[in-house]
Amino acid sequence: MCSPVENGLPGREGQDGRDGPRGEKGDPGSPGATGRMEMLDVPKEDNSSAGDPGLDGNLGPPGPPGPAGVRGLAGRDGPSRIQRDVGPQDISALWRQLEALQGQVRRLQEAFLQYKKVELYPNGRDVGQKVFKTAGFVKSFYQAEQMCSQSGGQLPSPRSTAENHALQQLVELENSGAAFLSMTDFWTEGRFTYPDGASLVYSNWAPGEPNDDSGREDCVEIISNGKWNDVPCGAKRLVICEF
Ligand code: GLC
Ligand code: CA
Ligand code: CA
Repeated sequence: MCSPVENGLPGREGQDGRDGPRGEKGDPGSPGATGRMEMLDVPKEDNSSAGDPGLDGNLGPPGPPGPAGVRGLAGRDGPSRIQRDVGPQDISALWRQLEALQGQVRRLQEAFLQYKKVELYPNGRDVGQKVFKTAGFVKSFYQAEQMCSQSGGQLPSPRSTAENHALQQLVELENSGAAFLSMTDFWTEGRFTYPDGASLVYSNWAPGEPNDDSGREDCVEIISNGKWNDVPCGAKRLVICEF
C-alpha cells in the first residue's frame, strides 16, 4: 500500500513534521489528542514523513465523535497507514473496517461461549477467571499434580466460598468421595501453603482438621460436603485440575 516512494513525499513534509507541535495543538480535541501524539512519534522514528501527522491535526476537529474507534486501528498499523488516512474516503474505509471487525469479534464471542458451554458440560465449572475440571478418576497426590501440570493446569487452590462450592459440586458429581487440593504442609508441619509457598487466604477445614493423623497427613482433600481434611499424599483421590 504505502511504498517507500510514497513515504518519500511525506518526507518533505517531514520538515513540517517539526510542526508536529501543531499536531499537539489539534490534540485539544479530547480523544483525538492521544491518537495524534502517537502519529507524531511513530513517523519521527521511522522516516521524515512526520509531516503527515500535521495533516491529521487538521482533521482533528471533526474527529471528536469518531476518533476513538479510528485510533484503535491506527495504533496498531503504525506510520505507513496513518500517513495515507487523511482523506474522507480513507476515514469511511476505516469505519467499514471497524464495522467488519466488530462483526468478527461478535461472531468469535458467540462461538467462544458455545464452546465454553460444551467444554464445561458436565464435568467442568467456571468461577470468575478459573475453570475447574475433573478427570473422573482417582490418583495419588503426586500423580494428580503431574497430570494437571502436564495439561497446563494445576491442582485446585480454592480461594473463596464460590470456588470451594464449585469443587464440591464436582466431587458430588463424580460420586467419588473426595478430591485432592493443591495445598500441603510439606515444609512446615501444620502450616499449609499453596504450591508457590504462600499461606492460605481461605480454608474450609472440617471440625478437628487438619490433625496430621498418624503424623503422615500432608495433603488435603475436599469431601462431598465441601469440607477439607488432611490425608496421606499417597492416598488415591479424585483428580480435579484448575485452569
Ligand atoms: C479420619 C480422620 C481424619 C483422617 C482420616 C484418615 O477420617 O477424621 O482426620 O485424615 O481418618 O483416613
Ligand atoms: Ca501434616
Ligand atoms: Ca486428617
